[in-house]
Amino acid sequence: MAEEEVAQRRVTIRDIGKLKKDGKKLVVVTAYDVLFARLVDAAGVDIVLVGDSLGNVINGFDSTIRVTVEQMVYHGAAVRRGVRRALVVVDMPFLSYQASEESAVLNCGHVLQQTGADAVKVEGGSEDIVRTVAKLTKVGIPIFAHLGFTPQSVRTLGMRVQGREKSEADRMVDEAKALEDAGAFALVLELIPSELAQRITAELSIPTIGIGAGPHCDGQVLVLPDLLGLNEGFSPKFLKKYADLATTVKDAVSAFGEDVRSGGYPDAEHSN
Ligand code: KIV
Repeated sequence: MAEEEVAQRRVTIRDIGKLKKDGKKLVVVTAYDVLFARLVDAAGVDIVLVGDSLGNVINGFDSTIRVTVEQMVYHGAAVRRGVRRALVVVDMPFLSYQASEESAVLNCGHVLQQTGADAVKVEGGSEDIVRTVAKLTKVGIPIFAHLGFTPQSVRTLGMRVQGREKSEADRMVDEAKALEDAGAFALVLELIPSELAQRITAELSIPTIGIGAGPHCDGQVLVLPDLLGLNEGFSPKFLKKYADLATTVKDAVSAFGEDVRSGGYPDAEHSN
């Protein structure tokens, strides 16, 4: 596929797989509203993920556990309206796919139908989840999988690097292969040692997308407010802030405040 052709049309699941085969790195960021969706799409990302991280960065919860299907639908539909080119993936929230295969199909199908997204993301690699992923892909729902630190399990895993022990690492490799065999089209690897991410990336033919998993993954994802420096006080070692929008926003709003208080706004140029 010519690069110019892909630049003109929507990215497909096949394009995502081909990027790995062609040795090209994939770029993934989160977005939660139409304004940022338009901007990140115009910046040329491959995948826009409507992460359930919105529980933390949009709603101010201390985890993703309280996020609901309807919140994901609301934000997913807004992002879909802003994205013309990138693949749009919506995170399935806690308890929307774990209870049974049937409820997973109904909830994932509901999210795809109501948002117009291209795919959904689910966390974990237990036998139950792998069976559910197989069922979902069989009915035509494309699945982005997620291993390592899976935030919906923060209460049991703790927020720490996963897969340091050999037995844990071997199990993660097996789970990654099982998710690929079940039909997942890509896999997020979050907070795992770089060598383990390298091993999983080499063993899979689907792309791995890292976050806090070192440089060997097929692509990288960051949470947009973190990348933009909007999420003050959140600075894990893996995070590179590409802007300081927190300062930009505070400076702009404080300049507006000064103008309003001094009578400098509205001025002649900006009144009706
Ligand atoms: O919810 C989210 O934003 C995510 C990414 C960190 C991968 O799952």
